[in-house]
Amino acid sequence: MGGATATIALEDAEVLEHEAWPEGQHRLVLRAPRCAARAVPGQFVHLRCDPMLPMRRPLSLMGADPAAGTVELLYKVVGLGTARLAARRPGERLSLLGPIGRPFAPVPERPRVLLLGGGVGIPPVLFLAERLAAQGPPWRPVALLGSEAPFPFALAEAREPLPGAPPAATATLARLERAGVPARLASLRGHPGCHRGYVTELAEAWLETLAPAERGRVLVCACGPHPMLAAVARLAARHGLPCQVALEEHMACGVGGCAGCTVPVRAGDGALAMRRVCVDGPVFDAAEVVWR
Ligand SMILES: Cc1cc2nc3c(=O)[nH]c(=O)nc-3n(C[C@H](O)[C@H](O)[C@H](O)COP(=O)(O)OP(=O)(O)OC[C@H]3O[C@@H](n4cnc5c(N)ncnc54)[C@H](O)[C@@H]3O)c2cc1C
Ligand code: FES
Repeated sequence: MGGATATIALEDAEVLEHEAWPEGQHRLVLRAPRCAARAVPGQFVHLRCDPMLPMRRPLSLMGADPAAGTVELLYKVVGLGTARLAARRPGERLSLLGPIGRPFAPVPERPRVLLLGGGVGIPPVLFLAERLAAQGPPWRPVALLGSEAPFPFALAEAREPLPGAPPAATATLARLERAGVPARLASLRGHPGCHRGYVTELAEAWLETLAPAERGRVLVCACGPHPMLAAVARLAARHGLPCQVALEEHMACGVGGCAGCTVPVRAGDGALAMRRVCVDGPVFDAAEVVWR
């Protein structure tokens, strides 16, 4: 195997922690040392949710600890596979393929990484926020997260300053606060401490506070529902900012062999080309994506 498939490992991952959160959300920690050693933000695993279900399900990596040999996932129950996954208990083993796909690719010339995550699109941007924060300067990530379900994380009062944040947006994820990442939350459902609206409104407000030179150092990275990503792509284009988006598409093989996950993209010459989300993505340049 070459390219994006060259580092994929197959292992029997042991369930270490499995936490249930409101509205069918679950955080899962697996022992999968070969995957953990190589995983980077934006990549995903293809997981057999139950020994009786031959079709694997793709889930983004929310974290990887190479020293502990563990990977962390967050998922929401939406159908048979994720319902079966929710029944798995610590000590059980799941067949895992990963890490898969082209990750986010931050560039040192743009260390102000504006991370936008929505719903089950939060995992890869949280992973990127924590990895960049751990690397220290020059990286200075900012995270804006949206969810209609209650956030499946411990929340904290935001102390890391974020210029432009509306006064009502007082909450953040405790883990981002610990990592020193300025972050704020948004929800149309009016959860306490969250901006009542969209993450793109928080992003717009923050971008407006930046001097032109500082804005020229911003890269936007996002994952979330398609309409949110389309709005983020428009916002980035309006501000002349490069933007990378992690797409989700129905998948079968997950490793580039079946062409079941293709999406149209606009190549450099403007011509349409088909790309496989699993191995040519899931992260794409937002300017290439054909937004439906
Ligand atoms: C690269 C990638 C990363 C993903 N990361 C996460 C994640 O971190 N957390 C998470 O909760 N989910 C994630 N998903 C979506 C997740 O794979 C699907 O929710 C899951 O496969 C559904 O399986 P199921 O058997 O429970 O539901 P199914 O019965 O297969 O489907 C239930 C519903 O979900 C929709 N659906 C199924 N698969 C997908 C898909 N791949 N993309 C979009 N909609 C789908 C179906 O159209 C249907 O409406 C990701 C998908 C991809 C492609
Ligand atoms: S799922 Fe088979 S090529 Fe992507």
